[in-house]
Amino acid sequence: MVFPKVLAVAVLALCPPAWTQSPTYKLGRSPTAEEIRSQDIAISPTGKELPAGQGTAKEGATLYVRKGCAGCHGATGSGAHAPTLISRKGPQTATAVPCLAPCVNDSNTMGVHSPFATTIWDYINRGMPLGKEGSLTPNEVYALTAFLLYKNDIIKKDELMDARSLPKVKMPNRDGAALPPEWKHGTPRLQGYP
Ligand code: HEC
Repeated sequence: MVFPKVLAVAVLALCPPAWTQSPTYKLGRSPTAEEIRSQDIAISPTGKELPAGQGTAKEGATLYVRKGCAGCHGATGSGAHAPTLISRKGPQTATAVPCLAPCVNDSNTMGVHSPFATTIWDYINRGMPLGKEGSLTPNEVYALTAFLLYKNDIIKKDELMDARSLPKVKMPNRDGAALPPEWKHGTPRLQGYP
């Protein structure tokens, strides 16, 4: 199993132009507008790409169990094998399971460190539930995001999250994160970023 993988990587490394359209060898093709649209699902900090839909923490609490989040992240959002999603309050005791890499514990959950609530929406939408990525509807992602924000004491229980309200959520670490400068076409990525 390992050998063909290594071989595939080696072959690809030898022909990088195959990734783009090559005028010399006539390899590859430009993606269609529709193909680009289907892949272009990232949500930026401003949330301007967010789809229609809405959800509350109450709906999210049910989905957290029904969609299997609790199975991996723990019923209380901490102390399980998958990263901690809900910071525990009060005195903390060591958890029964070791913190697995990437180690996310109480002090660095997304609710604590992420400067934008839209990042949580984007993460859940693209990457969760692990193994069934892309299966959640926008309403479900809004509700699950609302649930995690509420449980981390960032929004109120009945606050409705949608494309307008989510980007306005003031995250605790909104001003504490070092953000790269805005990228412009034709300049290297992360230019000037310390
Ligand atoms: C099969 C196990 C599994 C299930 C089910 C699952 N997750 Fe995860 N989740 C993970 C793992 C593992 C990671 C860490 C992935 C990584 O960082 O590479 C993760 C990461 C996350 C993160 C990012 C945490 C951080 O601070 O980096 C969020 C948010 C999240 N999951 C939410 C959810 C939600 C909401 C659901 C339910 C819809 C869900 N997960 C279902 C295993 C799971």
